[in-house]
Amino acid sequence: MRPQSPTGVPRVDMSKPNAARMYDYHLGGAHNFEPDRMLAAQVEQVAPWVKDVARINRAWLHRVVDFLMSQGIRQFLDLGSGIPTVGNVHEIAQRVDPGARVAYVDYEPVAVHHSFELLKDNENAAIAWADIRDTRAVLEHAEVARLIDFSQPVGLLIVGLLLFVDDDADPAGLVSGYRSACPPGSYLAISTMSQDDADPRTREELAGLLSLYEGADERITPRTKETIESWFAGTELIEPGLTLLDEWRPDREASTSPARTLGYGGVGRVLGSRDEH
Ligand SMILES: C[S@@+](CC[C@H](N)C(=O)[O-])C[C@H]1O[C@@H](n2cnc3c(N)ncnc32)[C@H](O)[C@@H]1O
Repeated sequence: MRPQSPTGVPRVDMSKPNAARMYDYHLGGAHNFEPDRMLAAQVEQVAPWVKDVARINRAWLHRVVDFLMSQGIRQFLDLGSGIPTVGNVHEIAQRVDPGARVAYVDYEPVAVHHSFELLKDNENAAIAWADIRDTRAVLEHAEVARLIDFSQPVGLLIVGLLLFVDDDADPAGLVSGYRSACPPGSYLAISTMSQDDADPRTREELAGLLSLYEGADERITPRTKETIESWFAGTELIEPGLTLLDEWRPDREASTSPARTLGYGGVGRVLGSRDEH
């Protein structure tokens, strides 16, 4: 069956800066509009390392997908997948095994549109237009159901997403909802923002960034390492545990940018009910 065009995608509100499109701008992408570029440029003034946050996060995602492929994972559910850029999950996975399947999920119309265009000839990857805060809508989405066999281990990717999910939306409950849909032997990968390890100057610059994001359509909420670790309930953290992104199975020298102290990530193997006792 050919992937279906996403329906019901709302018109893009180009008047308000959007976090997904600003991230695309920071990564050097072209899928952004003037208000996105204006706010992103202001953010770069107060937090000159912001591009490095995006790059470090993408490099981490790349290493995680390589690792999960080496563990035999052949299907990925990528929540908050973003605007396609260099090194998308299906490209990394399908280079190793063209049969690897990837269901992307995002709610931002530009991300959905470009993902659809990129993937329309790829039988094994598709975008689901859905809000990840509606677990059921995601898990029952036709493309997710077509690509992901929840009786087999899944690579559940929640990368650079939860910083945009307010505490009111219960990120722990959301993660737990998705994790429990995945069988034991699946892997949960989470990266998000924390300032636990940032020096005073970087914290101050981050405060400037956070207040500028008040003008975008999504706020950013950094979390403590303790909170992030709690999201891995029901999994066993893989070595080296929850770390700064650059320190998780590095394949190059660590960045010297202050951005390296702002992102945490970890990968947990989903336990069965027997493993938990
Ligand atoms: C910073 S980008 C991360 C993209 C990619 N995962 C990465 O790490 O490079 C965050 C993405 O999450 C999406 N997002 C934020 N909240 C969402 C929600 N409630 N439902 C679906 N997507 C969401 C945004 O539209 C954006 O594309």
